[in-house]
Amino acid sequence: MSGMSLFDAIYGLRATRIFQDRAIPEADLQRVLEAASMACSSGNTQPWEFVVVTDRELRSRIQQEMREAFEDIDDERAQQPERLVDASGRSVTGRAAIDHLHKVPAIVVVCWNPDRGIRMKGEYTEKPDGSLVETREIPGGRGVSLFQACQNMMLAARALGLSSLFTTFFFLRRERIKQLLGIPPRVFMECAVFLGYGDEALGAPRRIPVARLSHRDRWGTPPPAPGHGGRA
Ligand SMILES: Cc1cc2nc3c(=O)[nH]c(=O)nc-3n(C[C@H](O)[C@H](O)[C@H](O)COP(=O)(O)O)c2cc1C
Repeated sequence: MSGMSLFDAIYGLRATRIFQDRAIPEADLQRVLEAASMACSSGNTQPWEFVVVTDRELRSRIQQEMREAFEDIDDERAQQPERLVDASGRSVTGRAAIDHLHKVPAIVVVCWNPDRGIRMKGEYTEKPDGSLVETREIPGGRGVSLFQACQNMMLAARALGLSSLFTTFFFLRRERIKQLLGIPPRVFMECAVFLGYGDEALGAPRRIPVARLSHRDRWGTPPPAPGHGGRA
């Protein structure tokens, strides 16, 4: 493990969309998945399943699906084109990730397994094809029990010298990609984390200063100045 502190890992984590065509050692992949599996989850249900795609043929088939999905996606976006670049001028649409997808050495497709995740009666009903439809509101949705695992994965990867990208865009070809990967109909494919060695120069992330987004006790009340001891 590198000597990187947790804060260095957090402050230097970037969404990487261009990777070197270089395999990740199995031991590192294993450590990253173990870190993911340590995340919290609703009722400790640990509903995640990780399909780690390393096979070249599968990656290029996924890339083909996604290229087709992206052909006319820009027409559907609600944001103006200028909102589709981040503060450093980089596109956030994910197109670069798709153009370079064939080189990503490991794509962790993160799924939600209802056999562990369902907590209340009537949350889902089963359709004739075996897939499930949500029929009762689930606080926070399925993602809340998966995203912490993804963030653990990305921070652990960074500590091991790997870069990553969190994505949700596979939903655009959800059924096709589920079929390609043999994911059962009743299992939900929710998101994916790309892992590998970055091949683009990225600086520090740019974020809105926390003073502009934090409120003390009541909305609109700024936090005390640093150094203030707080209430006794
Ligand atoms: C819920 C969510 C969905 C995302 N989906 C995608 C995606 O589908 N494709 C993509 O390239 N990036 C995706 N991202 C990555 C964001 O674009 C990225 O985290 C953001 O632009 C900040 O990047 P930075 O950390 O490099 O500054 C997603 C991030 C989140 C949190």
